[in-house]
Parts: sequence; structure tokens; C-alpha cells
Amino acid sequence: MEPNYFSEKIISWYHQHQRQLPWRETKDPYLIWLSEVILQQTRVKQGLPYYYSFVEAFPTVYDLANAREQEVLRLWQGLGYYSRARNLHFCAKTIVHELGGKFPKSYQELIQLKGVGAYTAAAVASFAYNETVPVVDGNVYRVLSRVYGVKEDILSGKGQKIFRELADTLVPKGKAAVYNQAIMEFGALQCTPKSPACLLCPINSICYAYQHNEQSKLPVKIKKVKMKKRFFSYIIFRSQQGFFMRERKANDIWKGLYDFYLVESSADIGDIQNLNDPLVQQVLKSATPTVDMSALYKHQLTHQQLWIRFFTLDIGEHKLANSLFTNKDLSPYSQEEVLSLPKPILVDNYLSEVIF
Ligand code: ADE
Repeated sequence: MEPNYFSEKIISWYHQHQRQLPWRETKDPYLIWLSEVILQQTRVKQGLPYYYSFVEAFPTVYDLANAREQEVLRLWQGLGYYSRARNLHFCAKTIVHELGGKFPKSYQELIQLKGVGAYTAAAVASFAYNETVPVVDGNVYRVLSRVYGVKEDILSGKGQKIFRELADTLVPKGKAAVYNQAIMEFGALQCTPKSPACLLCPINSICYAYQHNEQSKLPVKIKKVKMKKRFFSYIIFRSQQGFFMRERKANDIWKGLYDFYLVESSADIGDIQNLNDPLVQQVLKSATPTVDMSALYKHQLTHQQLWIRFFTLDIGEHKLANSLFTNKDLSPYSQEEVLSLPKPILVDNYLSEVIF
């Protein structure tokens, strides 16, 4: 099939069906980049409020570069994968302080930025500058695998190379911006993962999957990663001084966010008396706090399944506890401060639903 036939059909479908979205009304590379980083984390509907809050708080790359990381993480709260937000902030500073505030103008320059991969670089280069590069995201894999009958695993190196090469041949010169929006929109609205609208599809006559009734088999995605289970016991120490929290500094999930004293174990401990932790046991013995135990919450991340329980310990004014906490990097925060700190969404929900 002629590449032009495919791309022209997709573009004309797009002209009839596209959604009006704020990042499609601008050529500002900063705003486009912002929207694409957000949309890698969530769907359009959920991403819109985040996009609006970011644009309001940081209308230009200078505003983002001058922000405090905590502020950026707070606005990102709930989107997950917080290293994306930290990279966003880091890149803004690079652009302002090292590139004189000039946004990189090509795919090759964009991909040099920290955390900017092939997808984001292609999206910004094509949407902002109309550079002839294909975007290849989940939508594009689905559309291309079905139309062209590509059965290679989209998660394998070989598969990704095949799709990239095919995608390269399909981007029409001078129309990359509209074509890339179009193929993603086509994947999102027409060629959907489940129950694609094949009967009303303008390219069903050339579609391999439709002709062979293999829509549900394509794309091929072989998941290899084993889900890691982790059990977290959060200890909310509460005294007259406030709630004891700390910034997560290790290279683990939620770096830069704030949470409570955390003990990780290989299974659910059920009762705080079973918790094998010297600080907690010492506080339990010497301060005899009131203890409140939450339900066990499940929180699914991409490659990890977290099982989380909160224990709230009211410790009054106990002095021993305070010196122990300082050693563990914990500091007391007032309710107002706790509310404004960036936190994992599960912690935030627990606080607003149960504690405050
Ligand atoms: N998903 C990723 N990028 C998108 C865009 N520009 N418009 C709609 N959905 C998207």
C-alpha cells in the first residue's frame, strides 16, 4: 500500500474527528513539551487539569526553571513516576541557564535533554517545528500493527526497530505535525484497544487485522517483568509539635516526595507489636502511645505492587522520641505544612480521608 494513501486517509479522518485540545492550539515548544510529558503519564481527560495547573503556575520555561522542586512535585502529585517531574524541572533549568532560554529546535537537540526520549523529542519536534519525524507511542503501535499486520512483540528491541522503520516511511514531508496528531488520535478514538470501530473505519479495506479478524491479537505485547510485591508499614508519629515526616532521598520510588517513618517487610505484619523495628519498639515501650491501625491498602505501580498499612501513634510530648526522630531525618510539621508538602497520592488520600 502506498504510504501516502495511509497518511492521507488518517489526516482526513482527523480533520473530521479531532478533539479540540489546548496543546493543539499552540506552537510554543515549551507548552507542547509540558503536555507531552503529562500525557505520557495519563489519559487526556485526566491530564487536562494537570496541564492547566502547570501552565498557570509556570507559563514559561523561565517560571518552571525558577520554581522550587517541591512546588513542581506538588503540582505533579497523583500522576506518578515522579522522576518525570524532576526531569521536567531539571531540563527547564538547563534550557534557561545553559541554552540561554532558547528551546532546542530539532529532534537531535531535544533528545540530548535529560529524560527526553525518542517519543517526546519526536512529538515536540513535529508539533512545534513540523520536523519530519514519526511519533511512536502505544496508539501508533496499535494502529500500525493492525493495519500492516506486524506481529513482532512491541516490547522487544527487534519489534521497536521494525515499527520505527515502518513509521519513518509513513510521515509525509511538510505534514508531520498534523499527521502525528492524527495517527495518535486515530488510535485513541477509532482504533481502540478493545472493540475498535472497524465498520466505520475509513481504512478497513486495507487493514490486515480487519481482513483477518485479528484485531484482538494485535499488537503483540509479551510482558516479561515480574511484579514485585512490597509491604510498607507507615508509622505516623503525632505529637504536640505536629506530624513527623521526612523527604525521601534514596533512589527508590517517590524520590523528593515526603512521607512518614516507613518500615518495609517481606509480608504484611498485621499488628504493630510484630514490627521488627528498634525505633518503633522503643517508642511503644517507653511512650505507651495510643495506636490506630488502618486497613491494608493495595497500590499498583508499573512494576511493583505495594501493600500499605498506616499506624498512627499519638506520642504526646515524649522527649526520647524526639531525639530518636532527628536521627532518622524526621521533622515535625503542622497540619497546614503537611497538606502543602508533595506526597505519594496514597499518603495524601489517607490523610485527607482518615486523619484530617
Ligand atoms: N497523547 C499523547 N500526546 C497527545 C496529544 N498531543 N494529543 C492527544 N493525546 C495525546
